Amino acid sequence: MKRLEMLKTMGIATIVVTSGIGLLSSCENKTAKTVAAVPEKQPEKSEREKLIVNRQENTFADPENPTKFELKHTPEITFGEADKNGFTQIFITVGSDGIIHPTKNEHWIDFMKVFVNNKEIQNIEFTNGVIRGYNSCYAPLKNTDKVKVIIGCNIHGIWQSEVEFV
Ligand SMILES: [Fe+2]
Repeated sequence: MKRLEMLKTMGIATIVVTSGIGLLSSCENKTAKTVAAVPEKQPEKSEREKLIVNRQENTFADPENPTKFELKHTPEITFGEADKNGFTQIFITVGSDGIIHPTKNEHWIDFMKVFVNNKEIQNIEFTNGVIRGYNSCYAPLKNTDKVKVIIGCNIHGIWQSEVEFV
């Protein structure tokens, strides 16, 4: 009996020692992982991305009297006819009141997003210097739907306008 009890005690002692080593090893591993952390390398920007230097959102300083600079960056939204399936043509040009935004390699409208009732229906990226800030599309509009357009000028930031379809 004494021998059996001694063997039992040795067995428990072995389990305790083995668990202790396991615990020690796992602590060592955690420390090693923390020390080995390396910062991720950022992907390099394209030539186009390097030219986009302003992403600030803008509004009119005086909504009753927008300046020519503000109008030049405001998307003008108008509507054409509906097709036989009920899709209405939407025209968008940047800017408004006949003041057209420049299209140059270093200064251009770089993107345009179109929303109907705050749901995005289109997202366009424009190549610098070769295409104006203009777009036409068809959407199934009904009375009181709100069409919103957000554009980006690479130098002068983000601008938007919204009109109600009647
Ligand atoms: Fe601009």
